[in-house]
Amino acid sequence: MILPPHLGIRDGLLTIGGLDCVSLADRFGTPLYVTDQDRIVDLFHAYKAALTSRYTRVKVLYAAKANGNLAILTALSREGAGADVFSSGELSLALAAGISPDRLLFNGSSKSRADLALAVEKDVPVSVDSLDELFQLDEVAGRLGKTARIAFRVNPALDVPTHPKIATGLATSKFGIAHHLIPGAYREALGCTHIRPCGIHCHIGSQILDLEPFRKATEVMMRIAADLVAMGIDLEFIDLGGGLGIPYRHGTETAPTPEEYAAVVVPVFTQAVEALGITPELWIEPGRSLVADSTVLLTRVNSVKKAHKNFVNVDAGFNLLVRPAMYDSYHEVVAARGADRVPEETYTITGPICESGDILASDRRLPVIRAGDLIAVLDTGAYGFAMSSQYNSRPRCAEVIIHRGTPALMRRAETIEDITGTMRSPPWQS
Ligand code: LLP
Repeated sequence: MILPPHLGIRDGLLTIGGLDCVSLADRFGTPLYVTDQDRIVDLFHAYKAALTSRYTRVKVLYAAKANGNLAILTALSREGAGADVFSSGELSLALAAGISPDRLLFNGSSKSRADLALAVEKDVPVSVDSLDELFQLDEVAGRLGKTARIAFRVNPALDVPTHPKIATGLATSKFGIAHHLIPGAYREALGCTHIRPCGIHCHIGSQILDLEPFRKATEVMMRIAADLVAMGIDLEFIDLGGGLGIPYRHGTETAPTPEEYAAVVVPVFTQAVEALGITPELWIEPGRSLVADSTVLLTRVNSVKKAHKNFVNVDAGFNLLVRPAMYDSYHEVVAARGADRVPEETYTITGPICESGDILASDRRLPVIRAGDLIAVLDTGAYGFAMSSQYNSRPRCAEVIIHRGTPALMRRAETIEDITGTMRSPPWQS
């Protein structure tokens, strides 16, 4: 199996950021998410360099939904990253991480008035998803005596090669405003008293391994930009979204690098802005491609069962990593001790949740596994912990972050009291 540079095998033990996973699991307990901060920072700089070598006015906004831990947001903030935030919670975390409002975009297809008010109060530009939302935002900004800076989210009606649940710019997707209705939306915005249109935004989907859809989306965006410039709109930024996939199947799958992405997308952008005589900032919003491979989920084997299949029952299930159950997604699994042993058996790795779909990995060739062994699930940094739940009343696990060979907790494990603590007895039961 091909491993990225921050993972390795030393004396048969899987390592991350130079530290062996078995010792990390012994020290911090399992299940455990372990993230290499330096890997995320390296990838951020790879994006930044690839884009700025072609166009200097660039912002890379990390999509906080992929992994909203404050330590990750802070690490990226200190390197100059912005953030795409999708809720008041993500907005608050990004601000707490030191990301200034001019490096943020508040996205969302269903924002409440409280969400809109928070964005306006904090001077964070809003990606507006409907005319209804536009008029509510105008009212909210007026009440607060402010002007809201906005972009509209364009739905480019593009079919993209990814799982249908994570394609976001299909004609049938809930996100954005149909591309042909966008100039009309900006006309409405120009008629609002407390709104200043200053950008344009799109996102076409996630885990896309082909660059062609990004090129097409950029073309659509630049055509719209031309219409907006003709309307007299001063475009301060054009946000092309995120979506670059990663090679979850190590060795057989490949993903474009940030350099390859920039080489395809930026020329379409620069040719159009030069022709229009404008110099907007180029924004992108990568999530997965910055954080996915930075993280392993370490899970302890509770029992091994030979039935119609060989099952390895581990202590993490879809409560902690829902992607396989939700999108049939593939994550490599590695025996953390004896990682260099020859595979001898075919196992299906199942979690502790009371559902048949609680499978982390099906029919994998692994060395012989016994109770007490440690399994590492790779590439779990994006939409892993972020989508976890307390289903079956299971407290969420801890998260550890490593920087230059030093590990530290970035989130403690929840306890049963964290689950019961928010529960209240109704008066008729006391
Ligand atoms: N910007 C916007 C507006 C988005 O909707 C998304 C992801 C991103 C940026 C980041 O896209 P990325 O670079 O991570 O592909 N939970 C799913 C992925 C859902 C993505 C939704 N939007 C999964 O686990 O595959």
